[in-house]
Amino acid sequence: MLPPTHIPVLLKETMEALAVQPGGRYIDCTLGAGGHAAAILEHSSPGGQLLGIDADPEAIKIARARLKAYSGSTLLINDNFANLQAICLKYDFFPVHSILFDLGLSSLQLNGNGRGFSFQHDAPLDMRLSPSQEVTAADIINTSPEAELAHLIRKYGEEGYSRQIAHRIVNQRPIKTTLQLAQTIERAIGRRRGRIHPATKTFQALRIAVNHELEHLEAALKQAINLLGFEGRLVLISYHSLEDRIVKQFMRQESMGCICPPGTPTCICGHTVSLRLINKRVITPSLVEVQLNPRSRSAKLRAAERIINQDEQYMTVEELGFSTEVKANGWRRPALLKKLRRTFLAA
Ligand SMILES: C[S@@+](CC[C@H](N)C(=O)[O-])C[C@H]1O[C@@H](n2cnc3c(N)ncnc32)[C@H](O)[C@@H]1O
Repeated sequence: MLPPTHIPVLLKETMEALAVQPGGRYIDCTLGAGGHAAAILEHSSPGGQLLGIDADPEAIKIARARLKAYSGSTLLINDNFANLQAICLKYDFFPVHSILFDLGLSSLQLNGNGRGFSFQHDAPLDMRLSPSQEVTAADIINTSPEAELAHLIRKYGEEGYSRQIAHRIVNQRPIKTTLQLAQTIERAIGRRRGRIHPATKTFQALRIAVNHELEHLEAALKQAINLLGFEGRLVLISYHSLEDRIVKQFMRQESMGCICPPGTPTCICGHTVSLRLINKRVITPSLVEVQLNPRSRSAKLRAAERIINQDEQYMTVEELGFSTEVKANGWRRPALLKKLRRTFLAA
């Protein structure tokens, strides 16, 4: 087995939030090195099933080796989670008990594997999660008009010095490597500001833009709800405020009924509640975890549970023909999931 080189963040808290149970069916939308996936498979044994997705073919390779012992219960797909629903339909993998998104990059991608995600290691400015994507960070840096570049750095990096950085970049083009870009940014806005390197925000902005991270997250969240069975859990770990804002707003909106603007006399939105928040407050790592794994320091975990609307009402457990023995063991979910599946297919 390969030595794990990415430490899964908030592992215990994630397992609790996912409510992993033996025989359950789970989706890990961000498989990475397979750390969370291995724990899900262990906790859902016997009989658990996992669909693991990652846009990065390298991650799939590494996770496949790590999860070898569970090869009979795992389906690992190299694709973008923006295609979540299509993947589940294609492989007949729904409804599920829980879905996990552990967003961002794994340490394997950040630790200088020549992909250009980090300014700590010199590499070509690539930053694509998948080699099938066309646009690289170098394309954006070397071809965008200055104003567009400044806008992108401000929007996705929340960088206050975006105009100065964009101006310097345009004057220094072509910029081909991570170190060249980091030095250009340093020259534009000076050396370290506090604890973060001056290039941090620009690198984040480029990575988000190259991989359409925020758009893909929004698309996947919408699809995830319909793949969850009754009481199925949706768990997200985010690492920066732009991701977390999307997750927070999505969960808040889906946990409300009407979302008409205040003062609207009668409801015109027709929005119905589909999630119940599990934790009122966001879950963050303990000081001990941050010390052991500094990468976890900005992690925020949010979890919600699927609730079924009036028009999606299910038959009672008795109507579904459960034996009392099954009920006593708390095994009502799989049958309710079957029922949901019929509803889903009929829709
Ligand atoms: C933080 S890592 C996950 C680590 C994993 N939980 C573990 O314990 O090993 C995030 C992973 O999500 C993948 N990823 C990011 N955005 C994606 C997307 N839109 N579609 C599919 N995979 C994505 C990255 O390639 C990366 O491998």
